[in-house]
Amino acid sequence: MAEITTRPVTVADAPALAALLTANRTFMAPWEPVRPDEYFTPDGQAAIIATGLVSGAILHVILEDGEIAGRVNLNNVVRGPFQSGSLGYWVDGNRTGRGIATAAVRAFIPIIFGREGLHRIEAGTLPHNHASQRVLARNGFQRFGVAPRYLNIAGEWQDHILHQLLAEDL
Ligand SMILES: CC(C)(COP(=O)(O)OP(=O)(O)OC[C@H]1O[C@@H](n2cnc3c(N)ncnc32)[C@H](O)[C@@H]1OP(=O)(O)O)[C@@H](O)C(=O)NCCC(=O)NCCS
Repeated sequence: MAEITTRPVTVADAPALAALLTANRTFMAPWEPVRPDEYFTPDGQAAIIATGLVSGAILHVILEDGEIAGRVNLNNVVRGPFQSGSLGYWVDGNRTGRGIATAAVRAFIPIIFGREGLHRIEAGTLPHNHASQRVLARNGFQRFGVAPRYLNIAGEWQDHILHQLLAEDL
């Protein structure tokens, strides 16, 4: 069984991430915002990592036996009385269906509630993204609603099922 871990992304990961995203461009397209060509370049990835870190996002790479296999991140981190952020993740299409996303989210949650001290993790999925819903359910997330036309994914404003996990749920 492969070892699945996560660690913080650095700008030095940009070339490897750009290569992996390029290889997965067709696989990810139905589940992602429309990305400009720049997104798939090392410079584009370096800029995204740098901007994300400045904004307070918590960005990790997913490692399978030490090799980058995807990303898991918490964006839109809001402090004050909310202490909440939005979870996102993707796994290399050649490695799906083996529990990697489930294990990576499981490893990421204690970092968010522990070291980062947040109270709530929110995650939205497309209604037909059953694999992602399984990842969330297996990590204890509760579905709490449907947001109409919530995010622009693959060029369309699409409904999302919203899920959350609270620190005291663990
Ligand atoms: C969603 C995603 C991260 C899942 O990664 P993964 O490593 O394959 O996930 P896991 O193996 O941990 O779990 C997947 C679960 O979904 C199930 N699954 C996979 N494809 C499925 C499908 N088409 N329909 C129903 N269930 C499916 C698997 O059987 C597994 O559940 P189980 O273990 O209870 O059987 C990956 O498919 C991906 O990167 N997709 C594109 C980006 C994306 O959708 N990100 C999430 C946005 S909310």
